[in-house]
Amino acid sequence: MNSPATTMNIDKTRILDNLNSVVLLFDQNLKLVYMNPAAEVLFAASARHMVGLNAGDMVQCPGGLAERNLRRSLRTGRLFTERELALSLPDNRTATVDCTVIPLSDRDGGLGLLVELQQIDRHLRISKEEHLLQQHQATRDLIRGLAHEIKNPLGGLRGAAQLLERELNDPALGEYTQIIIDEADRLQLLVDKMLGPNRLPQLSLANIHVLLERVRHLVIAEYGERLPIERDYDPSIPDLKLDSGSIIQALLNILQNAARAAGQVENGRIVIRTRILRQFTIGQQRHRLVVQILIEDNGAGIPEQIRERIFYPMVTGSEGGMGLGLSISQSLINLHGGLVECESKPGKTLFSVLLPVENPHVKK
Ligand SMILES: Nc1ncnc2c1ncn2[C@@H]1O[C@H](COP(=O)(O)OP(=O)(O)OP(=O)(O)O)[C@@H](O)[C@H]1O
Ligand SMILES: [Mg+2]
Repeated sequence: MNSPATTMNIDKTRILDNLNSVVLLFDQNLKLVYMNPAAEVLFAASARHMVGLNAGDMVQCPGGLAERNLRRSLRTGRLFTERELALSLPDNRTATVDCTVIPLSDRDGGLGLLVELQQIDRHLRISKEEHLLQQHQATRDLIRGLAHEIKNPLGGLRGAAQLLERELNDPALGEYTQIIIDEADRLQLLVDKMLGPNRLPQLSLANIHVLLERVRHLVIAEYGERLPIERDYDPSIPDLKLDSGSIIQALLNILQNAARAAGQVENGRIVIRTRILRQFTIGQQRHRLVVQILIEDNGAGIPEQIRERIFYPMVTGSEGGMGLGLSISQSLINLHGGLVECESKPGKTLFSVLLPVENPHVKK
């Protein structure tokens, strides 16, 4: 009897393309000859631009450590592993990685080095995100439940005050019923905002830059040209299947906060960037393509005491703010399988909106 086939006819590079680990291949002169898509994400550059670069020019380690270690491995032909290595990457980014270097020889006897990097801060980031999303969902459910409970008697309260107003003989007393009506209306607005959009999402293909331009113009209309809003859009980003109204609302909440912060400092300005990320994980889900929208301002930064909690409802650091904007943005982006992240220090606040290009949860 024939034994079942034990080989699979898969192109080996496809395996590398789908790995979460960063894989780099250097020749004996320590020039890069190959990098997989996970490496393109880490270095935020395409393989086309990176191939041919020297290892020492790709990452900066104190005292040229990376280059020295690689040369030693080439010389001795020995594998080595370095744990929790702090890498300095382009754009002032850093990453903590476990690094394994494996010397390889090709068929012609030439030497090379296979470098595998496992990003450990990324694992921490993913589990933190997961935790954040769960907590956030629980709080939003609670808030929505509360908002419903408040909303139900409001209509009755308002109607009763109107009836009472008609029955009153003394017009001076109408002032009191009017207060009840006005306050009921104010509560109604608040509760509607707490409940979020109450219509089903309407999905259609949309260009993210068209939506961003809508949002930018809305903010320009509010703040005028005195607040510069620069754009750095990647025109290669494909159209996304999404609910345009929700995404406009989500981005507007973030941009309005940025405009308020930048508007309060001298030479305040905002930059909106778009990028495409490959093989990127959001929560537990890995996506082939993710659109990243970066909104940066040079305002005073998020007050430290609320920095960790800004995505929770009712957390505000600004007078007159309801603290709902970011929590709503997060919910709307989550509905699209995406995520909003933020980092902030005085003089630089950066919001990053991640949206998967193909979202299995969104019906085609
Ligand atoms: N770009 C930013 N720079 C500085 N602080 C910010 C920025 N974005 C948000 N914040 C802080 O986070 C808080 C929460 O923002 P969020 O949009 O959720 O609520 P809000 O703006 O206070 O009220 P609402 O949006 O409901 O009117 C803000 O009050 C502000 O203190
Ligand atoms: Mg806001």
